Amino acid sequence: MTRRATISGWGKCAPPVKLTNADLEQLVDTTDAWIVERTGISSRGINHMQTTDMAEVAAHHALAAAGLEPADIDLLIMATVTPEITCPSNACHLQARLGAVNAAAFDLNAACSGFVYGAITASSMVAAGVKQRALVVGAEQLHWVMDYWDRNTCILFGDGAGAAIFEASDDGDGMLGADLGADGVAGSTMVFESLGTRRHLGEGRDPGTSRLHFEGQAVFKIAVQGIAASVRRALDQAGVSADDVHLVVPHQANERIINSAAKKLGIGPDRVMLNIADHGNTSAASVPMALCDAAESGRIAPGDVVVMTAFGGGVTWASAVFRWGPRVTAIATSDAALPPTDVTALDLVAPNREFFAPLHADGA
Ligand code: UT7
Repeated sequence: MTRRATISGWGKCAPPVKLTNADLEQLVDTTDAWIVERTGISSRGINHMQTTDMAEVAAHHALAAAGLEPADIDLLIMATVTPEITCPSNACHLQARLGAVNAAAFDLNAACSGFVYGAITASSMVAAGVKQRALVVGAEQLHWVMDYWDRNTCILFGDGAGAAIFEASDDGDGMLGADLGADGVAGSTMVFESLGTRRHLGEGRDPGTSRLHFEGQAVFKIAVQGIAASVRRALDQAGVSADDVHLVVPHQANERIINSAAKKLGIGPDRVMLNIADHGNTSAASVPMALCDAAESGRIAPGDVVVMTAFGGGVTWASAVFRWGPRVTAIATSDAALPPTDVTALDLVAPNREFFAPLHADGA
């Protein structure tokens, strides 16, 4: 029997505070109609806590869904480009919070592809017999690098976390094939230099290098071509065709990118998971949040072929083909949640407006 890693748990944390398109209309020269038509996004979460707080909530839900305790995990990978600090890693911070005392822990930076990179890494370690049960988390505090004067970027991104458990199985389910790669030469299309969301935004930082630099149209083209080609390579390695795929769970960057890539693959909208409208682009958190929504809304049946695919800064890309196991419902649920707050989204982005204002002093 082939040993693989099956997906046995899933969870997410969507911040309760939402920045709506109507809010953005107050900040930049844009309209709800433009944003919805060009991106599919209506609102995005703005976290009032820290990255690890969201990661912890998502992890508790995934552990409960798998029927596991934190100490059962022997590998913890945290995919993020918005860590609270550089060292110790966010993964170690999360390990301590959870009490996942038996887990090896490390952060993984492959930008928006980070969770799928992590899923492939974890699945490969489990298949090799190095580890038994991995928790892979994608968590991002992206509002921290958003210039809420720049309509080209601030409409797109949001905060959130998602998590999944990858557990050893000899039943034939698990990762059937994968493709991952990078093109560092194209890396200048998406850049932000600052690290460390735990400190105050303005503390010793330069606004010019602290915000996301992003060439939207270049990324759009790279993404549409790149996703379709990467999924084809992963399907080839898995020995299945696009017709065999029951559900694609893509990185939620832009609804038009997802639709174009799916069309290239000959996969209809009924087999594509979309939740971008409520969350925006949450980078490494987007695939596990969408996977969680897919599982919880009954979009996955036992034995389904589920493809995760993402592209992002680096430039990086990754696709993984999984055969789902026999269980599609959670073993247990968790009541973990972020603490409630009265703060508004406009309050939460006010420090960014102040910090980045000097870049727009000439009205640009
Ligand atoms: O996770 C990976 C990273 N993210 C992505 O993958 C996103 C990739 N790129 C995109 O999603 C799209 O390129 C955008 C949504 C960023 C832009 O959509 P687009 O259809 O490529 O628009 P565009 O850049 O061609 O801009 C069209 C017009 C421009 O005006 P002019 O020059 O034609 O007068 C923009 O200035 O729309 C203008 N525009 C806006 N108008 C209203 C740009 N942003 C906005 C806005 N509201 N928020």
